[in-house]
Amino acid sequence: MDFKAIRIFEEEGKFIPKIVKRNIGDLPEGDVVIKVIYSSLNYKDALSCSGNKGVTRNFPHTPGIDAAGTVYSSENSDFKVGEEVFITGYDLGMNTDGGFGEYIRVPSSWIIKKPKNLSLKEAMIYGTAGFTSALSVYELISMIEPEDGPILVTGASGGVGSHAVKFLVKLGYEVVGVVGNEEKKDFLLSLGARETIIRNEFKDLSNRAMLKQTWAGVIDTVGGDPLSMAIRSLKYGGAATTCGNVAGGEIPHMNVYPFILRGVRLIGIDSVQCPKEKREEVWNILADSWKGDQLEDGIQEVLLEEMLEKVQDMLNSKLIGRVILKHSS
Ligand SMILES: NC(=O)c1ccc[n+]([C@@H]2O[C@H](COP(=O)([O-])OP(=O)(O)OC[C@H]3O[C@@H](n4cnc5c(N)ncnc54)[C@H](OP(=O)(O)O)[C@@H]3O)[C@@H](O)[C@H]2O)c1
Repeated sequence: MDFKAIRIFEEEGKFIPKIVKRNIGDLPEGDVVIKVIYSSLNYKDALSCSGNKGVTRNFPHTPGIDAAGTVYSSENSDFKVGEEVFITGYDLGMNTDGGFGEYIRVPSSWIIKKPKNLSLKEAMIYGTAGFTSALSVYELISMIEPEDGPILVTGASGGVGSHAVKFLVKLGYEVVGVVGNEEKKDFLLSLGARETIIRNEFKDLSNRAMLKQTWAGVIDTVGGDPLSMAIRSLKYGGAATTCGNVAGGEIPHMNVYPFILRGVRLIGIDSVQCPKEKREEVWNILADSWKGDQLEDGIQEVLLEEMLEKVQDMLNSKLIGRVILKHSS
């Protein structure tokens, strides 16, 4: 069986994307083959497409860390042909051919059965970004109540950040989002954020260990300076989650003082190896009480042929909200 896929080729040190014909026989090992109907675009996909060896070691490669579709063939009796399933994380799209191809073959231990109240499209509207966001919010709300004060979301216009804004607003929290420019402001306000801060203005030149106590909680998706600013301006007993490094892997100007003098907490979020039990619990929440009317707002659905342009937009920080890939066959 032949199918279409985006492949990234390494040619003389450059990484060239092409849409090519592949065969199910070319796919890596695994006990379940899935016909992919939807995938989505995450920052990691953009890195894989541009040849980032921290994400993908060997090329040619098919990116796509999220995939949703139906079981095409299965050597595991738990998964029946035609069953609706999806995958986020593990090695999919990193060093295992991913959802930017019309078929994938994966180990059955990676697969989540679609919850009843969620469509395959909705699962990919969430995708890794929504799931990571849900894990972050799940942790934060176990420590911080809405009446404790405002929650700051960094990278708020992005995939993880925009979902976090939606979840927090639905749960009754007051949200302030950091965005890259004025153009992204309205998008964030439309999601229910109370206010936005332009990222270039979210700076402190004093390098003081602690800043004015402002935020009860922080959902950080970018790391670097914004995370440093956010932790140093947490209120006494506040908490921050962090999941990304778009703004850098370091946390500049940080020391122990916010932790030992204000009792603040910093929680790391990993969606890739998240244990299956927690994965299923959080996906069930996403399918149910956190699923708002606004799930489809700000979503762009594109075909395989349009995907590479969206990857460039993501790399150039021009993208607003989530991009969903719909395979045409
Ligand atoms: N730990 C995990 O399991 C996990 C899972 C998924 C994603 N992640 C990570 O989470 C991060 C966000 O992922 P995503 O899918 O939401 O990406 P995304 O859609 O590209 O969003 C990231 C946002 O960060 C902002 N940004 C870009 N460059 C920045 C910079 N230099 N400084 C500060 N902000 C910047 C952009 O918004 P503005 O231009 O409006 O500021 C952008 O919308 C990535 O680092 C990703 O690798 C981690």
